[in-house]
Amino acid sequence: MKLNMLKGLAFCAVLALVAVVTQSFSEIEEQDNPWVVPEKFLNMDNPISGQLGLGKDMYSLHCKSCHGKEGLGDGPKAEKLDTPSGDFTEEEFHAQSDGSLFYKTWIGRDDMPAFDKKMSQTEAWAVVNYMRTFE
Ligand code: HEC
Repeated sequence: MKLNMLKGLAFCAVLALVAVVTQSFSEIEEQDNPWVVPEKFLNMDNPISGQLGLGKDMYSLHCKSCHGKEGLGDGPKAEKLDTPSGDFTEEEFHAQSDGSLFYKTWIGRDDMPAFDKKMSQTEAWAVVNYMRTFE
């Protein structure tokens, strides 16, 4: 009886340890996981200006479900994501080049889908321009 209890306690301790270690690994991963944009995209010129109507249509169709109507990252699908989708009203977001936003939209990563097969480049640049209106 006593031995069984000890075994049970030891088992719980191991479980707790595993939980703590896993948690800290995922925290480290989050911090050390910057989204690196290739040079080619980083300095890419935005070939269009405005076209906010097109951008808004595309955003409503493809992006709003996760990023939310106002870019706050609070769309109906947001809760199911492993990674927070970011806040498009923040200074940090707008400090990025148009090319970076285009790259992230076009190529995606993990929970953020790629859109290279779902829209034209013009449509994607229009969405970039539309995302600039969030403040
Ligand atoms: C299924 C949910 C989902 C949809 C739909 C989605 N996104 Fe995302 N998006 C994410 C997630 C999650 C991230 C964060 C990814 C990361 O950091 O690894 C993200 C990140 C981004 C970023 C980078 C934000 C930053 O702070 O650097 C941009 C730009 C972006 N999305 C644009 C778009 C656009 C434009 C669309 C529509 C064409 C779209 N997303 C559709 C989930 C989504």
